[in-house]
Amino acid sequence: MAVLVTGGAGYIGSHMVWELLDHGEDVVVLDRLSTGFDWAVAEPARLVVGDIADQKLVEETIERCSIDAIIHFAGSIIVPESVADPLGYYLNNTVKSRALIESAVRTGVRHFIFSSTAAVYGTPQANPVSEEEPLKPESPYGTSKLMTELMLRDTAAAHDFAYTALRYFNVCGADPKLRTGQSTKGATHLIKVACETATGKRPQMEVFGDDYPTRDGTCVRDYIHVSDLVNAHYLALERLRAGGGSLMANCGYGRGYSVLDVIDTVKRVSGTDFAVKRSARRPGDAVSIVASAERCVSKLGWKPQHDDLEEIVSHALRWEEKLARRNRL
Ligand code: UFG
Repeated sequence: MAVLVTGGAGYIGSHMVWELLDHGEDVVVLDRLSTGFDWAVAEPARLVVGDIADQKLVEETIERCSIDAIIHFAGSIIVPESVADPLGYYLNNTVKSRALIESAVRTGVRHFIFSSTAAVYGTPQANPVSEEEPLKPESPYGTSKLMTELMLRDTAAAHDFAYTALRYFNVCGADPKLRTGQSTKGATHLIKVACETATGKRPQMEVFGDDYPTRDGTCVRDYIHVSDLVNAHYLALERLRAGGGSLMANCGYGRGYSVLDVIDTVKRVSGTDFAVKRSARRPGDAVSIVASAERCVSKLGWKPQHDDLEEIVSHALRWEEKLARRNRL
């Protein structure tokens, strides 16, 4: 039996591949390499270059490689981009996921793990946000992911099929052994941007809005180390294989840091006092969003190992330095 990881050449997917290999799993990656990199796919995982909606390719791969579970990361992830190109997001994240789910059902793959997002909640009424919070996405990105969750729910009701949808909060950091990390070009995520600035790849960075109703006026997020996140997926895989039913769960630590907390930590850990410009609010940003992590802990037995902002930043910085050396070669 093998696990098919879609988007396995990307940031989170490449960490998932290592997590599976570390547990002795046989891994096949399906990635069209639009934002991912073939070098990010760890050996001995097999890389199939192609689209998740190419049903002939997907179904042949599932049969040829004896796939028993799919972990689905492939998709588009930038909120403002989704506002500008909603139909592109509904195609990549919803329509293509539908094709992939159909291929799973047709070939008898019964276990499916889906990369969902805290964006399904929009701006929550209160923090921490539990899975029972009303689902009110505020961007096509969030809606495109929510629609896929709903397709999975209905598919599980109609077929011999169970899924886990994990709603990610702010994923960051890098593999502690630096075997992989976030290599995305033109990344917009706070910790990546701050680490790029600290290592001299950017002359300065911006704080988008310092007049929010928070402790220091900047937005608050729940930053989760990518290695803890992929471990939650591995636990979800074990649970599904053991006959656990469908589940959706938040993936965050249940505590928040402001944008300024993050920037101060990056400055301290890197020992660099880089330039930070105060700018206007970024459209679509929620003021504060922090996970309730109880379900992930109680249902999956999740025990986070890296819930420490300095450690997260230190891994992200070390990866940034490694990437810079690699790109100079
Ligand atoms: N920020 C800055 N400067 C930057 C980058 C970000 O001030 O250069 C701020 C943002 O305005 C925001 C915070 O840092 O207040 C976090 O922004 P990110 O872009 O890192 O992440 P988001 O919270 O916007 O998005 C993340 C995921 C989405 C997910 C969302 C759900 O990337 O996929 O959380 O809350 F939908």
